[in-house]
Amino acid sequence: MKIIIVGATGTLGKAVSAELAKRHDIVKASLNKGDVKLDMTSFASIESMFKQVGKFDALICTAGAGHFGPFAEMKEEHFYTGIKSKLMGQINLVLAGRNFINDNGSFTLTSGILSEDPIRGGAGLSFINGAINSFTISAAIELPRGIRINAVSPGLVEDSAGMSPYFPGHVLVPMHKVVSAYVKSVEGGITGQGIRVY
Ligand SMILES: NC(=O)c1ccc[n+]([C@@H]2O[C@H](COP(=O)([O-])OP(=O)(O)OC[C@H]3O[C@@H](n4cnc5c(N)ncnc54)[C@H](OP(=O)(O)O)[C@@H]3O)[C@@H](O)[C@H]2O)c1
Repeated sequence: MKIIIVGATGTLGKAVSAELAKRHDIVKASLNKGDVKLDMTSFASIESMFKQVGKFDALICTAGAGHFGPFAEMKEEHFYTGIKSKLMGQINLVLAGRNFINDNGSFTLTSGILSEDPIRGGAGLSFINGAINSFTISAAIELPRGIRINAVSPGLVEDSAGMSPYFPGHVLVPMHKVVSAYVKSVEGGITGQGIRVY
């Protein structure tokens, strides 16, 4: 399969790329360091990435930011950070990608544990993760041509242990378990699933 990985140069993306590269052709896409560059906060940039790469069989997104900080200090614009990047960035990858994905292809997005297991300072990400999961279940029932869509929802992964002080009591998730969720979404047959890896 030809698989585009948006965020391939990041913590999750590097590990997912390394595993899938054993069996597939990987197009590494990201903001600065990828073989193909895009800014997922811009629909025009996403479209131009697809025009450059052409037809593909699967797209994985392991990128997308949101605001992190105390709820008491959050203003409206802080919520838009995640909406513009992690939420609409991923939705726009699906909207634009629909015109380039092959029959029976798949989209795999990334949400995260904060949708249902909140931490202090995480309000700007929790609502985004929930929205990604909800978008996934709804898009799945209308995507044509056998195209599937899933969202991987990881807990804090062991490679991001530096964030542990912000996640008290959270058990770090082994990277190989997170990678397996992306493999399941791309190589398996499921659709409309939020794949929890806690
Ligand atoms: N790490 C975890 O434990 C964990 C757990 C649950 C959920 N998540 C979620 O998984 C996603 C990835 O996390 P991570 O820890 O792997 O992040 P990371 O290490 O910071 O990597 C971010 C990746 O996204 C790319 N990127 C950043 N801004 C972009 C933009 N505007 N357009 C396109 N690409 C952009 C970066 O590209 P360059 O390298 O080229 O700059 C890099 O490849 C995030 O949404 C995060 O919330 C992570």
